[in-house]
Amino acid sequence: MPDTPEFHDRMLSLGLARVSEAAALASARHVGRGDEKAADQAAVNAMRNQLNMLDIQGVVVIGEGERDEAPMLFIGEEVGTGGGPAVDIALDPLEGTTLTAKDMPNALTVIAMAPRGTLLHAPDVYMDKLAIGPGFPEGTVTLDMDPAERVRALARAKGWPAEEITVCILERPRHEEMIREVRSTGAAIRLITDGDVAGVMHVAEAELTGIDMYMGSGGAPEGVLAAAALKCMGGQIYGRLTFRNDDERARAAKAGITDLDRIYSRDEMVTADVIFSATGVTDGSILPGIRREPDWLTTETLLMRSKTGSVRRMSYRTPAR
Ligand code: FBP
Repeated sequence: MPDTPEFHDRMLSLGLARVSEAAALASARHVGRGDEKAADQAAVNAMRNQLNMLDIQGVVVIGEGERDEAPMLFIGEEVGTGGGPAVDIALDPLEGTTLTAKDMPNALTVIAMAPRGTLLHAPDVYMDKLAIGPGFPEGTVTLDMDPAERVRALARAKGWPAEEITVCILERPRHEEMIREVRSTGAAIRLITDGDVAGVMHVAEAELTGIDMYMGSGGAPEGVLAAAALKCMGGQIYGRLTFRNDDERARAAKAGITDLDRIYSRDEMVTADVIFSATGVTDGSILPGIRREPDWLTTETLLMRSKTGSVRRMSYRTPAR
């Protein structure tokens, strides 16, 4: 650990909320306008500007991509004033660019911060993910179980019939077999078209969202962000990187990953206390989206600290410019 000021997450967390808030406000005028790139760019610019005002020596470990493909908030970019604690930053300025462009539910702006060296440097490849909410012993469900077994194991742990379980899965051709297997148990499936950070977060509040388990493959960076969220909210997530070609394996090597088959638990993806902030862009079951009135914009932000388990919901209204 570098010899720098201690990571006072209590003080920094409020600043972090402004970062996700700024990204959401910047994307507001792009909601429902069909332009994913413009929406993402606006969120990236705003997030970066706001992040650079924080007194941190930050390094982006989960960001917009490799330096040669992302001019801003690329992996390895140093952010902050350079004057505070050394921290890792994981971010997704707009999680759900298509959701935003089409004004569909659950687009978020997301950022997490933890002491330097404590967030998994996940390369931009896919990750197989499996998540359930809090209150179950570690290993109640595992990635090594087939999809039907996972449903039955969770149903047993809950003392419910499998028919009462609802699983959230990204609707993709690669998940067709998984969907068939889950349906064979009688369980229900909520299919989402994008946005698996929110997808995973749903399991932490199963009584409100109606989702008991998340499974399927999505972006590995989103997996680390989801692990940060569950570390604050409670719940388990397991992730295993998957590789389609040598280029993707090379990305893992560059990120320092040697065991390509490793299954990471939540606390192996996020090894120390973390702070997490997400602001709603479009309406969803975790957060309401940006409310636009002729003269005002209103956002809601979910700000959480794993150290204390505190969950703050902050509403912010600002004149529309
Ligand atoms: P973007 O916001 O970058 O479009 O990502 C949305 C998302 O749905 C993620 O939530 C998810 O992890 C990933 O894309 C899934 O990737 P793919 O669309 O290739 O299946």
